[in-house]
Amino acid sequence: MRGLVEAVEAVPDREVYGRVVGVRGLLVEVAGPLGAMAIGGRVSIEAAGGRETPCEVVGFQGDRALLMPFAPLEGVRRGCRAIVGAAEPGVRPSRAWLGRVVDAMGDPIDGKGPPKEGPLLYPFRRSPPPAHARKRLGAPLDLGVRALNTFVTCCAGQRIGIFAGSGVGKSVLLAMLARNTACDVAVIGLVGERGREVQEFLQDDLGEAGLARSVVVVATSDEPALKRRQAAYLTLALAEAFRDEGASVLCMMDSVTRFAMAQREIGLSTGEPPTAKGYTPTVFAELPRLLERAGPGVGAGTVTGIFTVLVDGDDHNEPVADAVRGILDGHIVMERSIAERGRYPAINILKSVSRTMPKSTPEERRPLISKARRTMATYADMEELIRLGAYRPGSSPEVDEAIALNGPFERFLGQGKEEATRLGEGYAQLASILGVSET
Ligand SMILES: Nc1ncnc2c1ncn2[C@@H]1O[C@H](COP(=O)(O)OP(=O)(O)O)[C@@H](O)[C@H]1O
Ligand SMILES: [Mg+2]
Repeated sequence: MRGLVEAVEAVPDREVYGRVVGVRGLLVEVAGPLGAMAIGGRVSIEAAGGRETPCEVVGFQGDRALLMPFAPLEGVRRGCRAIVGAAEPGVRPSRAWLGRVVDAMGDPIDGKGPPKEGPLLYPFRRSPPPAHARKRLGAPLDLGVRALNTFVTCCAGQRIGIFAGSGVGKSVLLAMLARNTACDVAVIGLVGERGREVQEFLQDDLGEAGLARSVVVVATSDEPALKRRQAAYLTLALAEAFRDEGASVLCMMDSVTRFAMAQREIGLSTGEPPTAKGYTPTVFAELPRLLERAGPGVGAGTVTGIFTVLVDGDDHNEPVADAVRGILDGHIVMERSIAERGRYPAINILKSVSRTMPKSTPEERRPLISKARRTMATYADMEELIRLGAYRPGSSPEVDEAIALNGPFERFLGQGKEEATRLGEGYAQLASILGVSET
């Protein structure tokens, strides 16, 4: 009922429009009923031949509204009508969206026709639930990837980042998580990817079974900044919709860096001053607003967030990486040097942290995990010397043990694309490597 009333109310009773009075770069200036327009609202420009270009209100200057387009501006000229649309645009998702691939506007791009709409409107932009009303993080979540389950244990509703350069295996890892995590629904946002990678991701990595319980949102790198940014908003909006239905949702975004770049492009166009690496102040305001939307809700449902961050040139202190690390409850670091020696997923366990640990590790497993970490750290410290042959076996029992265990640990941390290891199995395998008897 509520949905129906909302839908009826959303139908405009009259058409309100202004006129295009100027175009500056990506900005369209519109004069007219400014009182009917609000930041984030939709305005549609009627170009020559009746073609409509959807735009978003991004600012005001003097007696003009500033709009940015979701599509190329070809055919737009002075005097074109600018029809005021929804003040709070959004989508009406339903379970029928599962298995579908949509663009940033929520329109299907898999050629299977429009999915059935749900009753409620989920705005693209929404504030996270109030902190005091939110549920606490849930139980440890089985991610199906043993290196993460054991050493970077995440809880349902946690938000974690994957930090890696390009080609280190982020997409493959995301697809493994989408297929194997013990959740009800996965929402995957591919923001600013190359077009070719999207098909590869869908067909080779995610596969049919993975897609069946997922919704994939795609905005490729060639699309306007506004669309790339909105793809990120839509990803969160869909996750919120399933969460409000009570589902345990895995929300993944590849990558947050491209979202930040889209926001930078929008900010610079509207005249914001550039700061670190050209990023504008709104980038650092929008990042927490976006990422905070993942997390537990006020009801039974929860959104676990996994966000990738590009750290090209291995600069882990680049401004976006820095900002994101501060917002999230943990980070997974993937390294090129590990990928180069053929161990996938190329996660550096010693540099990865889940801030819910050690609480998320069962009490009786904690000694096991810390022993394994210590042994790996010992090996990492001595690695150079060992490789140079400068370490004399027998001089330190700890180092000898670390050398002996290095092979088994490497095999444990590696995991094939098609393989899934359940939470309990991972601990058992680790226990057997360390020669600890199972309790
Ligand atoms: N688990 C894995 N097993 C085997 N090969 C992998 C695995 N993960 C990644 N790779 C290899 O690494 C390449 C790049 O991975 P990809 O996920 O596309 O990187 P990124 O998304 O970080 O750019 C893949 O084409 C694949 O050959
Ligand atoms: Mg990728």
